[in-house]
Amino acid sequence: MAAKILAERGADVLNINMGCPVRKVVQGGAGAALLKDLPLARQILQAVRRVISIPLTVKIRLGWDEKNKNYLEVAQMVEEEGADCLIIHGRTRSQGYNVKADWGAIGETQSRVKIPVIGNGDLLTPQAVMSFFKETKCAGAMIGRGALGNPWIFKKILALEKGKESADSSLPERERIIERHLQMLVDLRGEIHGVKEFRKHLIWYTRGLPGKKSLRGELAKWQTRAEVLAGVDAYFKKISHLILFT
Ligand SMILES: Cc1cc2nc3c(=O)[nH]c(=O)nc-3n(C[C@H](O)[C@H](O)[C@H](O)COP(=O)(O)O)c2cc1C
Repeated sequence: MAAKILAERGADVLNINMGCPVRKVVQGGAGAALLKDLPLARQILQAVRRVISIPLTVKIRLGWDEKNKNYLEVAQMVEEEGADCLIIHGRTRSQGYNVKADWGAIGETQSRVKIPVIGNGDLLTPQAVMSFFKETKCAGAMIGRGALGNPWIFKKILALEKGKESADSSLPERERIIERHLQMLVDLRGEIHGVKEFRKHLIWYTRGLPGKKSLRGELAKWQTRAEVLAGVDAYFKKISHLILFT
């Protein structure tokens, strides 16, 4: 029913997340818990495929844990049930982020199914994405943590694909994107919740920049969109002479 409603409301594509590790999700039998119940996962895929004609994608992990790495079996099932694309995060549910993502297993998956496989895990830099494509021959790459506070990564990846290394974004460009991102979050959540949620993004946006400790102390006090923008502007002005790429 949910899939049908979303398709009728104009969704371009529908993704079933069989990779989510969050405790409250898996306790309800959803997300990565579906990797432990393939008959149920298959039934869900069949039921969804029957009612939608938009592209259907499925995101999985390598398996529940080290002893239960069933990604090849799951990938085959996903293909058999008519999904258009498989997204695979190269870790198990129990691994968290402690272990390096297994790109070999991702490449193996792409070699076993005909549908496009989008690989995910540790694609943190444009250079890593290039190595990943070379190593795995995957149809696509999905960026996770690499995009946090770093939405420029997509532009840089596309440039590097064409053989061009692009420079880091300048402070004015960062400021412009921060302003736009904050506005979008405030439009979505309202000012109180939007500003609160934006604090973690600001921490990501200022990773690696000088003086970020004092900024972190400050930003907990900011309550309004205007306060955030004024604070960011003052911080960037303070550090601008220290940054080589401005
Ligand atoms: C803050 C955060 C939120 C995430 N939310 C989701 C989510 O809603 N759905 C999902 O499938 N994966 C989610 N992920 C997982 C990522 O999509 C990705 O699979 C994982 O971070 C591995 O890729 P990476 O090593 O490039 O970060 C999230 C990850 C992070 C760090």
